[in-house]
Amino acid sequence: MRSRWRGWRLAARLGWVPLASGLAACGRLPQSTFDPAGPVAASQLRLLNLSMWIMIAVFAIVAAILTYVVVRFRERPGQQGLPPQVEGNHRLEVLWTAGPILVLALLAVPTVRDVFALARTPEGGDALRVRVVGHQWWWEFQYPDLGIVTANELVIPAGRKVSLTLTSADVIHSFWVPRLAGKMDLVPGRENSMWIQADEPGTYSGQCAEFCGTSHANMRFLVVARPAAEFDAWVKGQQNPVVEPQTDLARRGQEIFGQKCVACHAIRGTPFTKGAVGPNLTGVGSRQTIAAGMLPNTDENLRRWLDNPSAVKPNAKMPDYNLNEQEIDALIAYLRGLK
Ligand code: CUA
Repeated sequence: MRSRWRGWRLAARLGWVPLASGLAACGRLPQSTFDPAGPVAASQLRLLNLSMWIMIAVFAIVAAILTYVVVRFRERPGQQGLPPQVEGNHRLEVLWTAGPILVLALLAVPTVRDVFALARTPEGGDALRVRVVGHQWWWEFQYPDLGIVTANELVIPAGRKVSLTLTSADVIHSFWVPRLAGKMDLVPGRENSMWIQADEPGTYSGQCAEFCGTSHANMRFLVVARPAAEFDAWVKGQQNPVVEPQTDLARRGQEIFGQKCVACHAIRGTPFTKGAVGPNLTGVGSRQTIAAGMLPNTDENLRRWLDNPSAVKPNAKMPDYNLNEQEIDALIAYLRGLK
């Protein structure tokens, strides 16, 4: 693993992309454009490879001609005056005009074709619609046809197209899941659209790709692709979540939640439905991570987060409520029980 990584970095430094791409594929970097997991990323990689090989060919041809000319027409002993000049040579002019036109045409045809193909929102009733809203520094995922809202984990059915509309609640962010698709900006007051598809079930990591403030680098998320039946079960679970606290400690946590957290966070199926400033916490106990993909969802990490959010995520919008140990224990018991 270590040497692979070193090899990858060396390859990247040399700009030797084909080698880097080969190593990336076997090293399974979690966010590699060279390891596509769906049709959008695959078609974008085809374009990338095409333009890369064209550039390599152009470089090789130019370098070869340059080397030849430098050697063949170098100054020789006894040479007098200027060598014969080729200014205005028609054959050369035509050649170096036609060459670039041909190269650009080779690039333009597939580029334009793919740009239009990818810009087309999937038609038909089969595509799942999701609205993505960027926030400093977390992600909101709304499923308008299913009536559910979640955060930081975009759960999708594997093998099915997902049509995304993207916008922002504050500043410009950028939605980027390298193994599924290229970047798309989230702009306040505007709706952009794109589509993704994960061919196989799996977890694909993504992150914000547009500088959006102090914790830009901590604005991460997961796309979790599940087999159709599992996805349907997940939807049912989100629509009818487990919300009743099972222990006294969790019940105490629910009370504290109602006093401190309710203004910003909502939980479906509870009286806490108004908060929309922070992530919707329906089923938060079954998410893989907390704090927008920063930490695995464990008691210990939740403790760190509740104790002082900004110590985990610099400038986090969630205030430090100076909760004491007992209050934190109770909140952990409550939140971890929400499935
Ligand atoms: Cu959001 Cu960078």
